[in-house]
Amino acid sequence: MVRTLTKKTFALSAMVVASLLAGSTFASDKTEPRNEVYKDKFKNQYETWHDTSESKEVVDMLEQVPSLVVLWAGYGFAKDYNAPRGHMYVVTDLRNTLRTGAPKSAEDGPMPMACWSCKSPDVPRMIEEQGEDGYFTGKWAKGGPEIVNALGCADCHVKGSSKLRMSRPFAERAMETLGTPFDKASKKDKQSMVCGQCHVEYYFEKTKDKKGFVKFPWDMGTTVEQMEAYYDNMEFSDWTHAVSKTPMLKAQHPGYETWQLGVHGKNNVSCTDCHMPKVKSDKGRKFTDHKVGNPFDRFEETCATCHEQSKEFMVNLTEERKHKVADLKARAEAQLVKAHFEAKAAWDAGATETEMKPILMDIRHSQWRWDYATASHGVAAHAADEALRVLGTAVDKAADARIKLAQLLAAKGVKQPIAYPDTSTKAKAQAALGMDMKKLNADKAEFKKTILPKWDAEAEKREATYK
Ligand code: HEC
Ligand code: HEC
Ligand code: HEC
Ligand code: HEC
Repeated sequence: MVRTLTKKTFALSAMVVASLLAGSTFASDKTEPRNEVYKDKFKNQYETWHDTSESKEVVDMLEQVPSLVVLWAGYGFAKDYNAPRGHMYVVTDLRNTLRTGAPKSAEDGPMPMACWSCKSPDVPRMIEEQGEDGYFTGKWAKGGPEIVNALGCADCHVKGSSKLRMSRPFAERAMETLGTPFDKASKKDKQSMVCGQCHVEYYFEKTKDKKGFVKFPWDMGTTVEQMEAYYDNMEFSDWTHAVSKTPMLKAQHPGYETWQLGVHGKNNVSCTDCHMPKVKSDKGRKFTDHKVGNPFDRFEETCATCHEQSKEFMVNLTEERKHKVADLKARAEAQLVKAHFEAKAAWDAGATETEMKPILMDIRHSQWRWDYATASHGVAAHAADEALRVLGTAVDKAADARIKLAQLLAAKGVKQPIAYPDTSTKAKAQAALGMDMKKLNADKAEFKKTILPKWDAEAEKREATYK
């Protein structure tokens, strides 16, 4: 008997035949990860996208703010943390940071596959090929030869088209929990949602059957308090602080969440309105400027399309807000550094888990709020009032912790103020924590010399089989 083919199996076998005929590997038919393919077809968009490489300055944030080393003690960020730069550098920067270590084989740590998730159109390609289960399984080094193309077209667009898409299923699910699935969203909403695939708070889920899937902690809402309650309810922590032993939360970059709370988010002025404006090409045709960067670089096409104030006025206003946020941020940091060392002094003096619990909870909440407000890059421009409010609560909670610590230390007969180690520079802070930076740097240099060329060669071979 002749078997009747259903539409689906027919389409599938046709696809397999087509790919066999073309001699290609069974790559995803939904994602073309190579940005260069669109060089001629979408010349203006490609070239402006490529111009994000002009934002190349590397700013070592640990040099600038040595307190960060103490705040992140015991966590990767204490080793190395730079300010964000152009989208073209995402893969390079992740390969180079000390945080991803120096794995020698695909099974080596320290980081999981999930670490690649906001870096490259090879991520949706892999998920389409292997499912989320396949993609998220294993260590970061497993993805080395696979994830090589810089953040680009397929991260935001349907294959070969200008249509916007959510390329990551975990982001799509998260947007749904907020009430608007991507395909039901307005054009404006979509323009911000594509950025919200990455510029958000997320964590690596640790359950019995899941191996570190990316999840956005939005089930109870997206304010700092709601996400904090979400994490507290599941007793989640990213790491245990090396000095104070606090179960810590690391905020990622909740830019989408904080933008929503600002005056522009509330008026649905999209990320694109300011970071990817419509501009005129040499031939006078309008297109979207893909050089995602500082909106003030194109003031006439961004702010000035809605506002009458001068560029100077707007820049100064934003600078003023940055200073206010930076000032309160520094106050929170100073309090937190002391709280971590005082907690250590209390443990050393024999404090019990029960005595320490409420104190560590204050430290956890304080630092989470400080991190939420400062890791949401651009927050002074997007929602300065929210940043200041949240930082205010961070200072407050650090003060609560320190009052309790002063009482506990006194009860244990510890003389105050305690002796705080010198953490006034990045090097001194890392030394105070006993970090062997020489070894970390040497291992990384070796990794760059021996492993990276292998990854690139393997990737080149694989891509040569693509149509
Ligand atoms: C696939 C994930 C992803 C998407 C989608 C994404 N970003 Fe980014 N973005 C990043 C990462 C990662 C960095 C940091 C890059 C680095 O430092 O290597 C970054 C950096 C930036 C920067 C800093 C650039 C600079 O020159 O300093 C801005 C601004 C920015 N993104 C805005 C946006 C906007 C607006 C959108 C949406 C139109 C967007 N991003 C979409 C991941 C993403
Ligand atoms: C971070 C997300 C993002 C990335 C990466 C991205 N685009 Fe876009 N693209 C957009 C947005 C947003 C629009 C505006 C769409 C709208 O207004 O609805 C757009 C519009 C377009 C359009 C429509 C015409 C126009 O200029 O408005 C084309 C074509 C296009 N992009 C091509 C590309 C190509 C080619 C690449 C890779 C080199 C790329 N895009 C990378 C977000 C992105
Ligand atoms: C698509 C339109 C649009 C664009 C583009 C836009 N804004 Fe706005 N802006 C608004 C709206 C709407 C409001 C709120 C209502 C009002 O105050 O007019 C607002 C309010 C403001 C305010 C007053 C509220 C506050 O935060 O104190 C400032 C300042 C401001 N915008 C700065 C900027 C800057 C700087 C840029 C460019 C980086 C920009 N805007 C781009 C529409 C826009
Ligand atoms: C009203 C205009 C406006 C809107 C809307 C807007 N931004 Fe921004 N954004 C700015 C300005 C202005 C800056 C600060 C530029 C500077 O440093 O002077 C900035 C800074 C940033 C930065 C930090 C860049 C760096 O190198 O530190 C990121 C990342 C960013 N924005 C992402 C986003 C995302 C994602 C969205 C949407 C969820 C968004 N922005 C919406 C105006 C806007």
